[in-house]
Amino acid sequence: MIVLDKENRVFTLRTKNTTYQMKADQHNVLIHTYYGPRVGDSDLSYLVRYADRACAPNPPEAGLDRAYSLDTLPQEYSTCGVGDFRLPSIEIEYPDGSRAADLRLTDWEEERGKYTLDGLPSFYGEEGETLRLYLEDRAANVVVELSYGVFEDRDLITRSVEVHNYGSASVRLRQCASLCLDFQRSDLDLITFDGCHMMERAPSRAPLRSGVQGVGSVRGTSSHQHNPFVVLCDREANEDYGLCYGAMLLYSGNFQALVEASQYDNARLVMGINPSHFCWTLEPYGSFTAPEAALVCSPRGFGQMSRQFHRAIREHLIQDPCQGERRPVLINNWEATYFDFDADKLVEIAKTAAPLGIELFVMDDGWFGKRDDDNSGLGDWTVNTGKLPGGLEVLVPRLKELGMKFGIWIEPEMVSEDSDLYREHPDWALRIPGRAPARGRNQLVLDFSRPEVRRHVYERIKAVLASADVSYVKWDMNRSLTDVYSAALPAQRQGEVYHRYVLGVYEMLDWLRRDFPHILIEGCAGGGGRFDAGMLYYTPQIWCSDNTDAIDRLRVQYGTSFGYPVSAMGAHVSVTPNEENGRITPMETRGVVAMSGTFGYEMDLSRTAGEDREVIRRQVAFFKEHYDLIQRGDYYRLTDPFQNGPYTAWEHVSPDGREALVSLVTTSLRAAPSFRTLRLKGLDPKRTYQVNGEGRWPGDVLMEAGWPLPLDLFQGDYRSLQLCLSEV
Ligand code: DGJ
Repeated sequence: MIVLDKENRVFTLRTKNTTYQMKADQHNVLIHTYYGPRVGDSDLSYLVRYADRACAPNPPEAGLDRAYSLDTLPQEYSTCGVGDFRLPSIEIEYPDGSRAADLRLTDWEEERGKYTLDGLPSFYGEEGETLRLYLEDRAANVVVELSYGVFEDRDLITRSVEVHNYGSASVRLRQCASLCLDFQRSDLDLITFDGCHMMERAPSRAPLRSGVQGVGSVRGTSSHQHNPFVVLCDREANEDYGLCYGAMLLYSGNFQALVEASQYDNARLVMGINPSHFCWTLEPYGSFTAPEAALVCSPRGFGQMSRQFHRAIREHLIQDPCQGERRPVLINNWEATYFDFDADKLVEIAKTAAPLGIELFVMDDGWFGKRDDDNSGLGDWTVNTGKLPGGLEVLVPRLKELGMKFGIWIEPEMVSEDSDLYREHPDWALRIPGRAPARGRNQLVLDFSRPEVRRHVYERIKAVLASADVSYVKWDMNRSLTDVYSAALPAQRQGEVYHRYVLGVYEMLDWLRRDFPHILIEGCAGGGGRFDAGMLYYTPQIWCSDNTDAIDRLRVQYGTSFGYPVSAMGAHVSVTPNEENGRITPMETRGVVAMSGTFGYEMDLSRTAGEDREVIRRQVAFFKEHYDLIQRGDYYRLTDPFQNGPYTAWEHVSPDGREALVSLVTTSLRAAPSFRTLRLKGLDPKRTYQVNGEGRWPGDVLMEAGWPLPLDLFQGDYRSLQLCLSEV
């Protein structure tokens, strides 16, 4: 709910459990007064204190009032060059070379429904509300429009920023953050989600120290290394206790999330497009829209914060073509065959998969152009009829005869130098004049900032998708951007290329969804290199990591779950020993871990032993039976796999609290194991449950006293356990 106190210009955003407040002060500066657990809607500006601080500049309107300084006040959207020395949110360069932004509130508007953004992903929903605040830099004739979306039930507040140049000359936007959040305290911890290819999104937590700290990406993608999602929290916050703030950017390119702990023990979070390599020219009457950011504040620990993000993403961000139906269980041929396949081989795998209940066959990389390894073929999006005689028109009916749907892999943003596309249009690849471009996986990146490039690629891919009944597309992206220069833009606009590239990717994803609304798109970037809320708006699921080892995946999926729901995490069962790290794990355990994601298989089932096939058949049936609970239930992390304890456990609880599924995997062993008891979460303390169809166990007993783990669980490597709870 949005509460406006027009007389005092106090703007309060109220959600179920939180309050967010801003106020325009006597100089029309928009002050951030409060964000935290829900309180009444009264003016909270009494919390803002003033003092004469030596060397703190005073704006001209303050006259001789030395206690009024932009450098000490909590700002709603921080400025630059006129007195606030902390992290800026916006930096504008004018024709005379000066750089400044001095913003004062001039107007506001309230709208029903949640705003949307042209060409950019955003949370949607009629039940949301919108507040717009207009801030003006009078000297420059620039207006900054701050938009706020409020989803009351989800405790979700979204933010976006649009900059309008009403001056008579062009200006250069050197930074335009999506989010600025000031805290009148700095005794907070910062959690970021970091890693590398194959080990993405490991939480990394540290107390704020004086100065600037944070993460970002200049790789052109949100990256494997750092995720555009961060948490600031009480020092003692944990899963169930303490105040925490999650901030998520809906953006898939270069980003930056910085926190500054400043001289008077305040903290400021600024998040948005990375200003490095960014400079956007705003012509007179031109505007620029920054990507959306989203905030959830939880007064009760990380678990509640995650569950609110999960629900908000499922209900207000993802647009699922399956529309409430169950998504199919899939088999992907990548780890089964890599590039070495033909139609018969694929059909052979499908023949084994179909009777096990697997419903979708995904043909991965290698089906097009000249593509027998990763050195050639990208850009030539026509079916290789040597491998697939007669094209998809022949292959897909063969799979459908087996009762399987068909899905296909693409990597639209890339080109191999050994491809017809590159030979025809070498200038379509990103490259800096006079420099040979760096290769990554022996491929170059197409200049997706150019409409004609993405249109050409799209038309080719569209023809393939239209040639058969395709139900699923995996959109991959296997290298970072380098040599970022567009032959189609003048020198002074080269700072726009990274962002235009991302807008180009989003536009093509929009075309794909418009022309093939029934197709389920899975995002992917060398595994989880572009696992962000921006992509989730277009691709309801994202391949979480190229690492399919169940034990490493416990960590990857745990870290990912802080911001993103299970239904978004691409997860497959693969062979043992695992192809990435050689670890040997039981088939049962691999299934338990993968079914806490979108669930599928990525192995040559035609070579799988009979007893393993039987396990797979049971797994698939179990997953289908518990689909709603797993994919749409509330997710509870019961342990932290980074603590190196003897097991990792998690739990899905149905929204009505009547059902739950507990999953547990042992991760280390010793002789003479201890007796261990697992305390459950999220149950209704007053309900009574059966566990695996037996007994009567009160919810409060299971949560407070716990469930004794059988000793034989700790007799053998990486065993697993699932407990199904249902109300009696
Ligand atoms: C990287 C992806 O993450 C893999 O799953 C696979 O699709 C390969 N690319 C194919 O080149």
